Amino acid sequence: MKAVCWHGANDVRVDTVPDPKILNPRDAIVKITSTAICGSDLHLFNGYIPTMEKGDILGHEFMGEVVELGSAVKNVKIGDRVVVPFTIACGNCYFCTSDLWSLCDNSNPNGWLAEKIMGHSPSGLFGYSHIFGGYAGGQAEYARVPFADVGLFKVPDGLTDEQVLFLTDIFPTGYMAAENCNIKPGDIVAVWGCGPVGQFAIRSAFMLGAERVIAIDRIPERLQMASDYGKAEVLNYEEVDAGEVLKEMTGGRGPDAVIDAVGLEAHGNDLMGLYDRVKQELRLEPDRPTALRNAIVACGKGGHVSVAGAYGGFLDKFPMGAAMNKALTFKMGQTHVHRYLRPLLEHIQNGDIDPSFIITHRLPLEQAPHGYEIFKQKKDNCIKVVLKP
Ligand SMILES: NC(=O)c1ccc[n+]([C@@H]2O[C@H](COP(=O)([O-])OP(=O)(O)OC[C@H]3O[C@@H](n4cnc5c(N)ncnc54)[C@H](O)[C@@H]3O)[C@@H](O)[C@H]2O)c1
Ligand SMILES: [Zn+2]
Ligand SMILES: [Zn+2]
Repeated sequence: MKAVCWHGANDVRVDTVPDPKILNPRDAIVKITSTAICGSDLHLFNGYIPTMEKGDILGHEFMGEVVELGSAVKNVKIGDRVVVPFTIACGNCYFCTSDLWSLCDNSNPNGWLAEKIMGHSPSGLFGYSHIFGGYAGGQAEYARVPFADVGLFKVPDGLTDEQVLFLTDIFPTGYMAAENCNIKPGDIVAVWGCGPVGQFAIRSAFMLGAERVIAIDRIPERLQMASDYGKAEVLNYEEVDAGEVLKEMTGGRGPDAVIDAVGLEAHGNDLMGLYDRVKQELRLEPDRPTALRNAIVACGKGGHVSVAGAYGGFLDKFPMGAAMNKALTFKMGQTHVHRYLRPLLEHIQNGDIDPSFIITHRLPLEQAPHGYEIFKQKKDNCIKVVLKP
């Protein structure tokens, strides 16, 4: 089959690789009909996530048709259309049964590696390096889905791929980011980053009762989308001092909650940003946390800091003094996709939201390298690429 493979920083190729096979009774094989490129894939593309190996198949946002089932999978049938959460979860362990699916104890065969760095291992993830299990991803014609009895969700009739594809990751991720803000009526939420995750965080913050959402980025078409579709007030951090303006916009109090929808490759236009870039290039600091720093400093006293942006390792110049003395609450994590999939599907069915608004590019799988390039460089107004195998 054809699959998008990682060959090193800034080098992805569409290779011919062996088809996946059922390896145990809880597996399924899905023939992929739609798959997307995520901001998290850019961290791999740019070479900032360790333990990638040449030839690894990328992709963790995918859906398709069930073509083969292990003997223990009874909840779906051959031919069913399904979406697949990017987090792999067993459904039986302490964490899965506590609704904390991205912390599954049984789905990361390389857990020992994660434990060395993090103390404990999070769940396995599709197409996301060997530290997260080394699973083949879904930017391919077929994928093997482990624990398919809990990891496949049947799509109800009448919904298109584009309406449901983002249930695999970015819609739940934006929603969990907003939920982690503990929004109360009247709250003002500020969102750093107007990429796909930021856009869904904005929409979700309103769905959860925020009175105002203020979104921050520097890419004009992303700010435009946040304002047109998200109904957010927008700030271009290259034109204004976002922290100062947020203070003015909130009567001096600062937002009640802040969301980091940027992650470890934040762009920094100040001295600190330059410092991060040099340290990251020298591999002295894995992550560039400009947006997170700014969000913490801007957050109002007693507020919530919700981190959806991905981080891999250690952060420099983390404003712990601001966080501690302003009594901020931090919430974060890889998304517990399984928890949100059904309720968010209902929102789509009820017409509360049509997630396809985010798509700017539809490309055949063969053009994945071009898709990565325009998404990374924000060329051609690219916000979200969907690949069609
Ligand atoms: N927690 C999870 O489970 C989960 C799931 C999906 C994605 N993510 C992470 O969420 C983050 C965003 O993903 P995405 O797909 O939206 O990516 P993206 O790269 O398209 O979007 C990031 C946006 O942040 C903006 N940005 C950069 N520096 C900034 C700064 N200093 N201040 C404000 N904005 C800034 C960029 O211009 C861009 O629009 C990534 O780190 C990704 O890995 C996490
Ligand atoms: Zn993703
Ligand atoms: Zn589990």
